[in-house]
Amino acid sequence: MKVDILTIFPEMFEGFLTTSIIKRAIQNKFVDIKIHDIRKYSKNPHKKVDDYGFGGGRGMVLMPQPIFDAVEDLKKENTKVILMTPQGKTYKQKMAYDLSKEKHLILICGHYEGFDERIRTLADLELSIGDYVLTGGELASMVITDSIVRLIDGVIEKDSHLNDSFNNNLLDYPVYTKPVNFRGMKVPDVLLSGHHANIKKFREEEALKKTQKRRPDLLENGENNG
Ligand code: ADE
Repeated sequence: MKVDILTIFPEMFEGFLTTSIIKRAIQNKFVDIKIHDIRKYSKNPHKKVDDYGFGGGRGMVLMPQPIFDAVEDLKKENTKVILMTPQGKTYKQKMAYDLSKEKHLILICGHYEGFDERIRTLADLELSIGDYVLTGGELASMVITDSIVRLIDGVIEKDSHLNDSFNNNLLDYPVYTKPVNFRGMKVPDVLLSGHHANIKKFREEEALKKTQKRRPDLLENGENNG
């Protein structure tokens, strides 16, 4: 998979691309992630990428020209163009599964007070990572890329994400490590028993109990199902 991210703050992605699973996925060529500075596409002599909004009242608005040129330069036949915006569809695990099967994604990060409305015409999909407003789409694009890359076959062991929270509309079951007794809080005996069928049953029951208690909405509507 190839992911091209368009941003006016490329430096924000440094840690993301050079750490842990994402770093390894890039090194092992499961994914090719390229960060593109929108400024490089600006035809303005001062490399301007934003300007005042017509009608007043707002701060700086991202101009269409650099973003149109960038998308037209990078887009191929199989490309899905995604715009990061709090006005987009709320991102869910099911979408991460669907997007992990795509060949090429272009993620556009909006910034400042917004982006010119005409930029919307470039997007196949608009995504929001939640009902709150970030200073820009950069963190959202990292959240979305991270959640997709870990689902690409081979990036992590399949078992690790088969039991993820939200699969089958359930939260993940509880896990424990050493020590068996920490400050009086003990690991459930069944996990120490070595009895695989009982462990499986315990985990299924605990996942259901946890979901009923914390996120009953998941059991009512199936929208998170991966
Ligand atoms: N840009 C600003 N806020 C955002 C959000 N919640 N999701 C996606 N992009 C954003």
